[in-house]
Amino acid sequence: MCLGLVPGILAGPRSRDCVTANADSPTDPVVIAIDGPAASGKSSTAHWVASVLGYRHVDSGALYRAATAATLRSSPSADSWTEGAVLESAANVTLSPRDTSFAPCIDGRDVEAEIRGAEVTQHVSRVAQMPRVRAWVNNLVRDAATRHDVVVDGRDMGTAVFPNATLKVFLIADPWERARRRLTQQMKRRPTDTEIAEETDRIVQRDANDATQTVQAKDAVLIDTTYLTQPEQVDRIVALARAVTHRGSEASSVDDPESR
Ligand code: C5P
Repeated sequence: MCLGLVPGILAGPRSRDCVTANADSPTDPVVIAIDGPAASGKSSTAHWVASVLGYRHVDSGALYRAATAATLRSSPSADSWTEGAVLESAANVTLSPRDTSFAPCIDGRDVEAEIRGAEVTQHVSRVAQMPRVRAWVNNLVRDAATRHDVVVDGRDMGTAVFPNATLKVFLIADPWERARRRLTQQMKRRPTDTEIAEETDRIVQRDANDATQTVQAKDAVLIDTTYLTQPEQVDRIVALARAVTHRGSEASSVDDPESR
């Protein structure tokens, strides 16, 4: 039940220059924006970084997915969807604060499994092209970031949504490797080459569908994770965050939060 509703290769020396500290006020919440294409590991990395730093993770893609799932509930035939109908369904979606994240809910209930399903994935890119749906997501994400230090992930967090983010990171990885990781996570076994090839096609198609809004900010640090382990990429982002926020490492180290 959702409570407390609220409507690899690190670029060299250049990357340090590109990190922008939010100079507005020392007490402004910190915003770490992690963007990148489908299955680049943004969400799991963002969640882990938030846990290590004691921030909250906001997954903007999960909000687009929740709006899609809510619309599927009221109107299963996607052909008839209009922007107005999607927004009406999205009115039932809220963001609920958790220990280390904000979770999207529909009618006050957790929908994590539902929003990751194949049907939602099939239709979400179309919903994400609707300008008023984008404005709705952006408002929810910005609202969450007014109260807490956050790690937000998506496609346009460092550009359209938080142009003054404290730290911006853009994650990329080879499509085959993204497909292999995604399938390994879903299937809990080693995928075959044929399975990886099919998933690579789907990922490349989604990259094309989302190309307009998937933009690397000029001042983002580019991290190619193809040859990095997840602890390595988390470690790099945490180190960058500590450098720009001038907050030390006393809070915790980069241990897998799942293992604690
Ligand atoms: O991150 P994830 O793949 O779960 O996002 C689902 C979809 O939401 C993406 O394929 C994209 O169409 C959309 N999205 C977006 N802008 C964001 C985050 C996600 O357009 N900031």
